Amino acid sequence: MTFRLQLSLLSISCTLVLAACSKAPVTPPDHAENANKAAAVWPQLALPVAQDAAMEQRISDMLATMTLPQKVAQMIQPEIRDISVDDMRQYGFGSYLNGGGAFPNDNKHATPADWIALAEAMYQASVDDSLDGSTIPTMWGTDAVHGHNNVIGATLFPHNIGLGAANNPALIEQIAAVTAREVMVTGIDWVFAPTVAVVRDDRWGRTYEGYSEDPAIVHDYAAAIVTGLQGAAGKDFLGAERVISTVKHFVGDGGTVGGDDQGDNIASEKQLFDIHAQGYVGGLQAGAQSVMASFNSWHGSKIHGDKYLLTDVLKDRMGFDGFVVGDWNGHGQIPGCTNDNCAQAALAGLDVYMVPTSAWKPLYHNLIAQAESGVIPLSRIDDAVRRILRVKLRAGLFDKPGPAKRPLSGKTGLIGSAEHRAVARDAVQQSLVLLKNNAKLLPLNPAQRILVTGEGADNIGMQSGGWTISWQGTGNTNSDFPGGSSIYSGIQQAVDAAGGRIELSADGSYGTKPDVAVVVFGEQPYAEGNGDLDNLEYQRGNKTDLALLKKLKADGIKVVSLFISGRPLWVNPELNASDAFVAVWLPGSEGAGVADVIMAKADGSVNVDFRGKLSFSWPATPQQQANVGDADYQPLLPYGFGLRYGEQSTLSNSLNEQVAIDNSLDDLVLFERAIKPPYQLVLHSGDSSKTMDSSVAQLGNIAVRTFDKAVQEDARRLTFSGAAKVSLTSAFPADLRSYAEAGSALMVELQHNGNVPDSVLIGMDCAQSCNSSINIAPQLKAMAADGWHTLSIDLACFAQQGADFSQIFTPLSLTTAAPLQLSFADIRLTPALAQSATVQCSE
Ligand code: BGC
Ligand code: BGC
Repeated sequence: MTFRLQLSLLSISCTLVLAACSKAPVTPPDHAENANKAAAVWPQLALPVAQDAAMEQRISDMLATMTLPQKVAQMIQPEIRDISVDDMRQYGFGSYLNGGGAFPNDNKHATPADWIALAEAMYQASVDDSLDGSTIPTMWGTDAVHGHNNVIGATLFPHNIGLGAANNPALIEQIAAVTAREVMVTGIDWVFAPTVAVVRDDRWGRTYEGYSEDPAIVHDYAAAIVTGLQGAAGKDFLGAERVISTVKHFVGDGGTVGGDDQGDNIASEKQLFDIHAQGYVGGLQAGAQSVMASFNSWHGSKIHGDKYLLTDVLKDRMGFDGFVVGDWNGHGQIPGCTNDNCAQAALAGLDVYMVPTSAWKPLYHNLIAQAESGVIPLSRIDDAVRRILRVKLRAGLFDKPGPAKRPLSGKTGLIGSAEHRAVARDAVQQSLVLLKNNAKLLPLNPAQRILVTGEGADNIGMQSGGWTISWQGTGNTNSDFPGGSSIYSGIQQAVDAAGGRIELSADGSYGTKPDVAVVVFGEQPYAEGNGDLDNLEYQRGNKTDLALLKKLKADGIKVVSLFISGRPLWVNPELNASDAFVAVWLPGSEGAGVADVIMAKADGSVNVDFRGKLSFSWPATPQQQANVGDADYQPLLPYGFGLRYGEQSTLSNSLNEQVAIDNSLDDLVLFERAIKPPYQLVLHSGDSSKTMDSSVAQLGNIAVRTFDKAVQEDARRLTFSGAAKVSLTSAFPADLRSYAEAGSALMVELQHNGNVPDSVLIGMDCAQSCNSSINIAPQLKAMAADGWHTLSIDLACFAQQGADFSQIFTPLSLTTAAPLQLSFADIRLTPALAQSATVQCSE
């Protein structure tokens, strides 16, 4: 009571001395020093949206009447899988999100009407003051990062890497405007885009979310996309067809050591600004209203907890007056924090905690307690809430009707409309980069006999990459893209229209020998850390696509390679085996845009010319990380490279195919954040088995679910209610003899809950009857319950049991006859650790 009273008195005095009060956060002693430090590198920006005195007064009035719990609720952003509409009514969250692959009612095929219904229900619950006393409207944020990509039927644009190759800011603005419209149809207010990472190490799994290694492109694109999403300041800014945008991830995500996702950036402050921050300059100058803090660190300091960067630089120096939103429990990674308890982030300048999972509730209560006890000054809470309310007011959220009644709401004809798809198809055309074109093989005359083959040929999921319907972009089939086109279907249309012959085959076989083969191959979809690589060699150790190209060449057929990828990769052998080679990146739902360019008109003349130029340098070796401007710059193909029709192909047909031999055998990683392809997690119970293809799976006596150990979904929990087995299995056997010879150990990070039966078998299975297993129950029993432990087993133990390492299908299986709960995280074969393994067998 007393407390509430004090608070409102404080707020009233704030209203009276507004100017002083809004700038009143306790000034730490280092403030002046930091301000000077920031001023030496970072510019003050001229931002296009000025503060409005009447609006600021209105915010002060609101703050004066708000309770502390209401204020803290504005700072909490839970996820739709973890809150109900009733939670919204009770707590009045300032915002909420759907993560990648999260849909209304958990239904992948949710219709636009379902999305609107959820938006409307959440909105009405937020303005309903019956429980929380608050009528402040909430807002919904989503990752519309290449179109409204969580929604079935939406127009999906090429991922950013392809757009960078188009180098056309006007096109980008158009794409963003289309995306905003499709998002508005579903009642959503806010998108977590653009990603303005300047990617300097292409081993990073998020390379494709970046436009370029060149800060100049990123700077201009950031401005264009923010303008397209939000509208232009002073014109249709945050009008009826626009959404709030988020420039992310601040700052340095594209420059971590080794290209590690969520890693450490050790650039100097000057480089941080000159290279990695240019997208913020462009984006903020276009009026971006939110900035997402990055998972990465800068010189070891997690950005979510870095007051210098979030407050001194971004807010105080650059003048950003919108709000800083966190990334997916990113606050929990600050030393001393957990997902549900973290005052440090607010103190550093985080305004909105993105807090998926059930952590939102304890976090909310902890923040209230920390504000009450003074750990977090009330002035900091007020500043955060002021920023959030400012953006809501600028976006007109207090005046607009509920999501269901807004002008574009429910205009489902706009989702994937012909007009929108035309923009995407144009973008596909502009994004393609022609790397090689021997004897001017392209464009292809559509009146000939054409074989289209390769795994990506008729595969809209593969050509769309990660962040497509599901988070990782996996698990989709062509029927999940109504209205979209595969690369094959575009070629087919051109060929049919010209009276040519076309054959589609998955494996390169054909009925009649074709005049030319178009082979579509490349990376399978991935997102975030799951796409991180050790080096850039394509299909290392398993060159099935190269074999396909060579087979066709050996048959005397000309080969056109269309390479689907989220980054440049080392493909010298594949380039040598191709007569023409096009980097198609991740074109999205309008695969037909590829045919527009590679197919000639019926009379053989050029239909649409290539315009794309590499916005990333193409590597000369698997280890190379070349960036334009480097002192010793020797990529295979430089930044800006891209042939047009009529130009002479310059690439040799005998590029070096030798990979420098690395004598030290690397770890064979089977599970690190995700199960590593080609392995899949398979459940076996009774006579049936089933592959796990989403975040939960259940079969008979066994249930498996993903959960977060250190980062998102980096662990699996196995709950056995009786006899069952779980395995990591591939469709093809692997030759693991070199691991056995190198004295390797199988390393498994695991945790149990204290109930361990007497027999828990870890096995390795081979092609025929050469399965082997070892009882690890004694080791498990020796491990304390509920903690993480590393179990290591000398591979020789499996050999003694009869394992044939030349043909291992299942490098790990777990079998129990009795109930057991066991979780595992990292799993790998590590050379030279047999000697120190927990379970040893070599004599
Ligand atoms: C990603 C963000 C994304 C967020 C919400 C995070 O893991 O880093 O880019 O906006 O999840 O899905
Ligand atoms: C979730 C996705 C989310 C992602 C953010 C995953 O654990 O399943 O929905 O977008 O984390 O990184």
